[in-house]
Amino acid sequence: MKIQNVGVVGCGLMGHGIVQVAAQGGCNVVALETQQEALDKGIARVEKSLAKLASKNVEKGKMTADQAAAWQTEVRGRITPSLDKGDLANCDLVVEAIVENLDVKKSLFSELGGICKPETIFASNTSSFPVGEMADASGRKDRFIGLHFFNPVQLMRLVEVVRTDDTNEDVFAAARAFGEACGKTPVSCKDTPGFVVNRLLVPYMVQAIQMLDRDDASKEDIDAAMQLGCGHPMGPLTLTDYVGLDTTLSILEGWVERYPNEPAFSIPASLVSKVKEGKLGRKTGEGYYKWEGDKKS
Ligand code: CAA
Ligand code: NAD
Repeated sequence: MKIQNVGVVGCGLMGHGIVQVAAQGGCNVVALETQQEALDKGIARVEKSLAKLASKNVEKGKMTADQAAAWQTEVRGRITPSLDKGDLANCDLVVEAIVENLDVKKSLFSELGGICKPETIFASNTSSFPVGEMADASGRKDRFIGLHFFNPVQLMRLVEVVRTDDTNEDVFAAARAFGEACGKTPVSCKDTPGFVVNRLLVPYMVQAIQMLDRDDASKEDIDAAMQLGCGHPMGPLTLTDYVGLDTTLSILEGWVERYPNEPAFSIPASLVSKVKEGKLGRKTGEGYYKWEGDKKS
């Protein structure tokens, strides 16, 4: 079962990166959005990232300038931007990377179940929701998988491959092979809240925010402590801005509702108030820090 034609639904922070690594891995990719503006923004990000990677390859002597230009054109040429779900009909795999809202995801998969050929494998990039519930909604629970990429997709080397009790063995193997083709190392996960990484990472981010809310330390000191004391590439508050405060809150709200007795899952007050104010992190220019483009200001 070889995956050659891929659809990616949602071309935001994660989706644009998944489009790019799939195309870099040799797949033909349909990049789907609901609005032209969001689609243009996602494709522009892919082009910017490809240019960056190409110039790094030239700097390191891995490619000549001509080879780098040809590589960019070839990868970009495998990507077809689209606003029409009908373009996903013949895909071997469709990866969903839309907003972290279970009802919206279920309704999308239910619709895709009626559009895509019966062989199409469906995957969700959800950070926190049960993959099995989306599989049920899709009407093809044996051909459904979690494919959880990490932000920024172009640079992070992991993909979590999440199977349910109903996932077909060949589908699981094909999804792992796709992850490898995207340049990632796959790890196998069961359908548990947060899989491996987020079950550990999100409660850690919560603890850091609550520490700030209690005024135990400044955000700069909390971040510096984890960078310099533990060798993390970025501190937890910078990371929350990077992930998006809205996404972090959606993850926590879902978990607190489903697992009210799990003490690791709680919602910090400042996370709620900042999301209400539209301070969603790096993507809106302010979260716990202020941002100018990709850099803290
Ligand atoms: N494409 C191509 N190049 C990129 C890029 C992209 N999308 N993003 C950054 N780069 C390049 C930068 O331009 C920079 O290049 P130069 O060295 O030539 O300047 C280089 O990569 C390094 O970037 P930065 O200088 O901005 O910063 P950095 O050295 O700190 O590295 C990082 C950035 C790799 C993101 C690093 O900080 C890191 O690993 N941070 C942790 C990220 C993390 O934990 N991610 C997981 C989030 S949780 C999640 O994803 C799951 C979930 O469900 C919420
Ligand atoms: P985002 O808000 O940046 O992007 C979501 C995109 O989906 C938007 O561009 C939106 O226009 C589009 N969209 C919404 N509904 C759509 C639909 N029905 N059809 C087509 N496009 C639609 O969000 P994100 O941060 O990229 O997160 C996407 C998913 O990836 C979420 O499930 C999130 O939990 C997960 N995830 C996020 C991160 C992270 O660090 N942000 C990391 C791993 C996984």
